[in-house]
Amino acid sequence: MSNRTFTMIKPDAMSNGHAGAIVDQIIKAGFRVVALKLTSLSAERAGEFYAVHKERPFYGELVDFMSSGPIVAAILEKDNAVESFRKLIGATNPAQAEEGTIRKRFAESIGKNAIHGSDSDENAKIEGDFFFSGLERF
Ligand code: RTP
Ligand code: MG
Repeated sequence: MSNRTFTMIKPDAMSNGHAGAIVDQIIKAGFRVVALKLTSLSAERAGEFYAVHKERPFYGELVDFMSSGPIVAAILEKDNAVESFRKLIGATNPAQAEEGTIRKRFAESIGKNAIHGSDSDENAKIEGDFFFSGLERF
């Protein structure tokens, strides 16, 4: 499983029209798309997805934002996928993200930060399973 990660293009990047450019950058960086869908999270499902942050002050805002509009969810494959993808997306706060990273290019703020990337192999599997059945993976 260590060659797979999970991502979501967040509602800000969707409504700002960046989904196509973001998918293009991901593919050009050498990731293979295993699964991909346009979908959305209810507040309840967003809360479940980010349950690890339940006690954090930004949790309510995060759940509201992530359920505010459509998202693109995907499973991606590449050697060392989790770490390599975190490098491609850049720091959580786009003001601190390296030049050329997806968050530097497309994120608005630390809350509206364009894209999610799994932080471990274990979470990549949990998160991919949260969105995709076996029949949706290629
Ligand atoms: P993500 O899980 O979405 O890939 O982001 P991340 O690992 O870089 O950051 P994480 O610590 O997991 O935080 C999850 C998301 O919560 C929002 N956040 N807001 N207002 C704030 O101080 C704050 N801090 C975090 C961000 O949208 C972050 O991506
Ligand atoms: Mg995270």
